[in-house]
Amino acid sequence: MKSLSRKCLLLATLSLSIAAQAADVEVLHWWTSGSEAHAAARLKQMMADQGIGWKDFAVAGGGGDNAMTALKTRVLGGNAPTAAQIKGPSIQAWGQENMLANLDAVAATGKWDSLLPATVSNVMKYKGHYVAVPTNVHRVNWLWVNNHVLKKVGAKTPTTWPEFFQVAEKLKKAGIIAIAHGGQPWQDATLFESVVLGIGGSDFYQQALVKLNPAVLNSPTMIEVFNTLIRIKTYLDKGSSGRDWNLTTAMIINGKAGMQFMGDWAKGEFSAAGKKPGQDYDCVPAPGTENAFVYNIDSLTMFKQKSAQAQAAQSALALTVMSPLLQEAFSLNKGSIPARQDIARDKFDACAVRSMNDMQAAEKNRSLIPSLSQGMAIAPATQGAIADMLAQFMNTNMTAKIAVEKLTKAARVK
Ligand code: GAL
Repeated sequence: MKSLSRKCLLLATLSLSIAAQAADVEVLHWWTSGSEAHAAARLKQMMADQGIGWKDFAVAGGGGDNAMTALKTRVLGGNAPTAAQIKGPSIQAWGQENMLANLDAVAATGKWDSLLPATVSNVMKYKGHYVAVPTNVHRVNWLWVNNHVLKKVGAKTPTTWPEFFQVAEKLKKAGIIAIAHGGQPWQDATLFESVVLGIGGSDFYQQALVKLNPAVLNSPTMIEVFNTLIRIKTYLDKGSSGRDWNLTTAMIINGKAGMQFMGDWAKGEFSAAGKKPGQDYDCVPAPGTENAFVYNIDSLTMFKQKSAQAQAAQSALALTVMSPLLQEAFSLNKGSIPARQDIARDKFDACAVRSMNDMQAAEKNRSLIPSLSQGMAIAPATQGAIADMLAQFMNTNMTAKIAVEKLTKAARVK
């Protein structure tokens, strides 16, 4: 810890000398739910502490579709922000446009290469140069349950599909919404990818949703995935269509529903509501996915800046995001785990510690998997086509056979 605080001091001094000549930073993001806004506010405060102003460019909408549309409009207008919440393969697409700043000097000062796991640092680089900085890592393949609600119907947190459907049936019979789901394309895709992993396993997921292998997309296992989804649909409530993820999580928090498939940004909402894991709620890997870790790495990608002042402010932003203080505070609010591997675990709850352990284990056994729904796995156009197809499936009586055909077709969209 001593060497950590020395490093902090060093970075803070460096940031301060940068701040002396810095401009404001403008940051585009979609962290607008209660817990997300708290996390963003910590970063904003840490910039203010260095004398750097923060112009908030927040565009609501989980999954970031609205934010990305707003970003494109701004960039086309020749007015890119300092940084934007751009993740995964999209970073490469912006790199190809020759729009991104080179953060190598800052990364060398902060020793990012040695502090970040390779899975994270690789995503932050374009052609070997740092262009983005990670705020945190989310695990996507979680199931959230309200322990009090399950207890009421004599059920226990499920870990297998048969157990899951038994619990769902008990809840339904008791007149409780069994599965809270937000019917938006990116949330449909979130549910879908957990079912793909839970039914097919890691290799199947990689082949289907990362490599987009047509023989695997169009396979009996994928039929089983869609049939499982058809069964899941019978436990959703009528209000699910179009509902935001955080309002859906609130249904679990308030005991209106029993279970939700969602990434651990949901935990940020439980924590903000004062709920405790293991007591009020449980976090458990989605049925059949306990050995795998579907990751979603949040990052701020930096755009080229013209003036020296704007560049200085941008460098300070990057250093601050990677500072131990921000890495810890951000994830404590956000429900995620720090991107840096050297952050003390003592303030983190059981869900986060499990996430940290499972991520390390998954890295070793080749089951660390990029999230399709969160823009980590494939190019945005293909991802969008798949999410649209899944939304159509969720909102109609489409059969598993037709769904598999449509999925295989959507996977060809470039
Ligand atoms: C994800 C993002 C997370 C979380 C979530 C809901 O795309 O990576 O940080 O904010 O959307 O808004």
